[in-house]
Amino acid sequence: MEALEQIKEKIQSFLEALDSPLTLELSKHLQSGKMLRSKLVLNIAGVNEESILLCAVIEMIQSASLLHDDVIDNALMRRSKPSINAIAGDKNAIMLGDVFYSKAFCELVAFSKEYPQIPHIISDSVVKLSLGEIEDVYLSQGFNADERKYLAMIEKKTAALIESTAFAAALLAKKSLNDAKKFSLYGRNLGMAFQIIDDILDITSTQEKLGKPILSDFKEGKTTLPYIYLYHSLQEEGKERLKKAFKQEISRDEMMWILENLKKSGAITRSFRLAKNLGEAGIESISDQSCNKLVSIMQEMIDRDF
Ligand code: FPP
Ligand code: MG
Repeated sequence: MEALEQIKEKIQSFLEALDSPLTLELSKHLQSGKMLRSKLVLNIAGVNEESILLCAVIEMIQSASLLHDDVIDNALMRRSKPSINAIAGDKNAIMLGDVFYSKAFCELVAFSKEYPQIPHIISDSVVKLSLGEIEDVYLSQGFNADERKYLAMIEKKTAALIESTAFAAALLAKKSLNDAKKFSLYGRNLGMAFQIIDDILDITSTQEKLGKPILSDFKEGKTTLPYIYLYHSLQEEGKERLKKAFKQEISRDEMMWILENLKKSGAITRSFRLAKNLGEAGIESISDQSCNKLVSIMQEMIDRDF
C-alpha cells in the first residue's frame, strides 16, 4: 500500500478505536490536504512503522488546528468542500478538533521510550502554533503594517510544527543532533515560505484552484505580507484608502484598485522574493545531506498555484 494511504488508514484506525460513531460520522466530512508534513517525514525517515505513526500524529494535529482555525476565521470552505463548521456548526468543529489533537497526543507518547525528545519537541511546537494563532487574531483586530510582527506570527503559527516535524523525522532516521538541527532549519524555512506563498495565492489564485474564495484574508482583517509591502509603497492618501477598505465589504472598484496596486507596487513580487530566499536558505541548510527530494519539495511548494 502506498505510504500516504497507510497514514490515512492509521488515522482511521485511531478514530475507530475511540468507539464513537458520532466522531466517525463527523470525520467523514474531512478532506485530506497536501500532506506536506507527511511527505517531509517520509523523505527524511523513510517508510516504516515509526514514520507512519509520526505522520498520523502530525496530520491529526494539523487537522485539529484547521478545524479550530475555520471556526475562528468563520471560513465556510476548506479544500473545495464545506468546512466542518459549515456542515455541523462551530460546536461540533471545535469538539472534533479537541478529539483529534488529544488522541494525537495519546499516540505521540509511544515515542517516549526510544525517542524521548520527540513528544517534547512536537508538543512544544503545538504550544507555539496556538500562540501564533492568538497573535494572528490579535493582529487582525487592526491594520498591521509591521512586517516583523507578521513574520514572528507566521513563524509560530505555521513554521513551528513543520520545523519540529523535520527534526523528529531526522531523529527517527538516527541522524546526529548536529544534522537533525539542519533538517529542523530546513523545516522552519519551508514553513515560513509556505505561509507567505499561501498568503500570496489568496490574492493571485482562483477559487477553483484554492478550494476556497480568494481575497479572504483582507476581508477577515489579515494584513498579510503583500498588503504590508503595498501599504509602505503608497503615499499618505493611498495609505488612508487602503486602511479604510480594511475588514470592510468593499465595492468591486475598490477591490480592483487594491489588486492593481498590489501588482503595480511590486508588493507581490517582493513577497514572492522573500519566500524564494527563505526556500533557498532552507535548501542550503541541508546541502550536505544528499536529500534531492527535499530540494524538489521546497521548489514545488514555492512554484505551486494552489
Ligand atoms: C491556518 O492559518 C492556521 C494555522 C496554521 C494554525 C491554527 C492553530 C490553531 C487554531 C491553534 C489550535 C491548535 C490545535 C492543535 C487545536 P490561515 O487561516 O492563515 O490559513 P487558511 O487560509 O488555510 O485558513
Ligand atoms: Mg484560516
